[in-house]
Amino acid sequence: MSRIVLFGATGYTGGRTAEAMTARGLRPVLAGRDPARLAALAARLGGLETARADVTDAPSVAALVGSGDVLVTTVGPFTVLGRAAVRAAIDVGAIYLDSTGEPPFIRRVFEEYGPAAQRSGAALLTAFGNDYVPGVLAGALALRAAGEGSARVDVGYFLTGGGRGQPFSRGTLTSLVGVATEQSYAWRDGTLSTEPAGARLRTFDVAGRPRPGVTIGASEQFALPRIAPGLRTVDVYLGWFGSASQAVHAGSRVTPLLGRIPGAGRAVGAVAGLVTRRASVAPSASALAGSRSHFVAEVFDAGGTLLARTRLTAPDGYAITADLLAWGAGRAAEHGVRGSGALDAVAAFGLDELTAGAAEAGIVEVS
Ligand SMILES: NC(=O)c1ccc[n+]([C@@H]2O[C@H](COP(=O)([O-])OP(=O)(O)OC[C@H]3O[C@@H](n4cnc5c(N)ncnc54)[C@H](OP(=O)(O)O)[C@@H]3O)[C@@H](O)[C@H]2O)c1
Repeated sequence: MSRIVLFGATGYTGGRTAEAMTARGLRPVLAGRDPARLAALAARLGGLETARADVTDAPSVAALVGSGDVLVTTVGPFTVLGRAAVRAAIDVGAIYLDSTGEPPFIRRVFEEYGPAAQRSGAALLTAFGNDYVPGVLAGALALRAAGEGSARVDVGYFLTGGGRGQPFSRGTLTSLVGVATEQSYAWRDGTLSTEPAGARLRTFDVAGRPRPGVTIGASEQFALPRIAPGLRTVDVYLGWFGSASQAVHAGSRVTPLLGRIPGAGRAVGAVAGLVTRRASVAPSASALAGSRSHFVAEVFDAGGTLLARTRLTAPDGYAITADLLAWGAGRAAEHGVRGSGALDAVAAFGLDELTAGAAEAGIVEVS
């Protein structure tokens, strides 16, 4: 069993991940900047090892892991703080997993860091949480059911239920703000192309009624064409905005332009920073309680005929993220992963193994 090192355990998502790991019998090393808080957490979780390190300082990260070890980080925003840990994993040939949902970071891992990781024997499993493992899994299952002739996949992420209160952690809000003025991407005409987030709008039938979603950059645009090289189009729709989706879609023409006006991105960030500083660290328990996540993948042929549809459902996104990271880290530490470079969840573990691991995180297929 290889060593597992976890960064971010003193935060909300990392704390839940540490708990999910120990619940599986894993004994991760808790790494971070604050020895006293790490020691208290390590004691509460049964006497884990701790290490002082800064995730933005590649040598301090690389000192903790060796070839084949597993490095897990939930320290975001990844576009700001994430590069050094990836670099460290590449340098030592480690297996790297993170909790990002930030499209520019995911794109950088696949396009920029993936080839270097392939050369060094490292494996990079980015966005290994609610964003965007379930959609990759749903897409892969639908492609398997569709068989020959698949030309387009649409994936949708939806939330239903949940009580009142703040539904996201402060870390998630900060990361969302950080990518608000960035360009996004899509898989179009058999290639990755840059386009604004929210550029497309469509409805999916979810939990008994039509629900709108707008396009985002995710992992599926990289993962699904590897599974089905004939795919011309892969779109991922986020359905969290409900009736505001139309406004988000209309605004998609404006936000990337803001990013190009000098200072505008900083101004948006400053205003949003005020909002996020007032947010509480953890999401509201009542907002999470009773909320359900829904993931839909639909596969079409070149003429637009539906060939297959897969629906998955799961508990709240933070529970899924912690459980997926714990499962992925444990499996990677025990059995390694398939191949090196930037890997999606299906490529790293295989579709049947991932289906079983996702089920352990409560992600199950529904008719
Ligand atoms: N993919 C998904 O579906 C998904 C789900 C949940 C969360 N996320 C993402 O995960 C990230 C974390 O969210 P969160 O709510 O857990 O945030 P959080 O509660 O603010 O936690 C951040 C953690 O990062 C640590 N940290 C910050 N800078 C560090 C550094 N330089 N070196 C080492 N550790 C450092 C903090 O430790 P200190 O105690 O030292 O400050 C803390 O433990 C966000 O980017 C969020 O968007 C994604």
